Amino acid sequence: MVERIKSGIPGLDELTFGGIPKGSNILVSGGTGTGKTIFCTQYLYNGAIEYGEPGLFVTLEGNVKDISWNMENFQWDIKKLQDQNMLTIYRLNLSAIDDLETVQKRIDEQLDEIAKEIEEINAKRLVIDSTTVFGAYFNPSILRTTLFQFTDKLKTLGCTTFLTSETAPTKNVLSAYGVEEFVVDGIINLQFTPPNRSIFIRKMRGTDHDKSPHPLIINSKGISVNSKDSMLWESIK
Ligand SMILES: Nc1ncnc2c1ncn2[C@@H]1O[C@H](COP(=O)(O)OP(=O)(O)O)[C@@H](O)[C@H]1O
Ligand SMILES: [Mg+2]
Repeated sequence: MVERIKSGIPGLDELTFGGIPKGSNILVSGGTGTGKTIFCTQYLYNGAIEYGEPGLFVTLEGNVKDISWNMENFQWDIKKLQDQNMLTIYRLNLSAIDDLETVQKRIDEQLDEIAKEIEEINAKRLVIDSTTVFGAYFNPSILRTTLFQFTDKLKTLGCTTFLTSETAPTKNVLSAYGVEEFVVDGIINLQFTPPNRSIFIRKMRGTDHDKSPHPLIINSKGISVNSKDSMLWESIK
């Protein structure tokens, strides 16, 4: 029997028939504004509040303040969680590199930092937002290797990890570089075909899962999935 974790995102666990396999790397992909960052912060916030699991949010694109502000938008008391060592927001610092040897070293350094932060609060949940930023630092020929190494090593850290990837705004594109989807255990795709938001599970190793797109709701309380209603694939761009 595969061990699972409760995602903390209302409605989502119904789509995986009980939760996400523990220890997986899950890609959360979608176009800009589809709710990826909110989805991931909700995973950490409810993980801490409802399931007592500490979480680490690693941002590659925003500063720490932006992320806190984003979470406070939903009236979540982030400061309290941070004070209780239930949440850490960490800004990953990369610099442009173009030879493989240095990449290897830099990835190792950054993963050591992430590992340290995980250890400090005994984090069980990890978010990397977003992997698309890697493209700004690594040249395309080594990007593939970089992403492989990075996600491979994340596996050794003992967390269940959500990684985001920003895609073109169409349902058939699953990642920014066409690599990310092959190195993860699961893919959750978010779509925004105005005015409708949707979510569907493209892949989830170790469990059966729902195959239809479902309505996704973002409001003042955060993000949730309407698992009871499904949407037509044709209705999504
Ligand atoms: N309080 C809210 N109520 C309704 N929608 C919101 C609220 N806060 C943010 N949003 C929606 O969420 C979007 C941002 O989601 P975000 O997770 O940052 O997207 P992504 O990371 O995929 O680019 C905003 O463009 C807005 O449409
Ligand atoms: Mg985002």
